Amino acid sequence: MTPTQIVDQAPPPPGTAIRVSVGGRAIAVFNLGSTLHAIDAACTHVRGPLERGRVEGTVVTCPLHGSQFDLQTGAVRRGPAAQAVKTYPVRIENGKLALEIP
Ligand code: FES
Repeated sequence: MTPTQIVDQAPPPPGTAIRVSVGGRAIAVFNLGSTLHAIDAACTHVRGPLERGRVEGTVVTCPLHGSQFDLQTGAVRRGPAAQAVKTYPVRIENGKLALEIP
């Protein structure tokens, strides 16, 4: 079973994202209003900060060179990035972010 890590941080407000550090990993958490998504914060191209990317639907665009990733699967939708980002199950427990980190 994947251990759940509670981050001592409230979820970001709807329509925004934050970067959190969990077990040495930087993870971007997006609140799309009805759903939360968590992915590696570093773009797989040259580590652009994905939590600062623009989100349309469930796709985030890296602010550095425009790569796009699906927030649900981590898959690349548009390069120059060629490798998917990791995704992590995320939920809210007692008002805090709870992430499942393998
Ligand atoms: S660092 Fe994200 S597209 Fe280049």
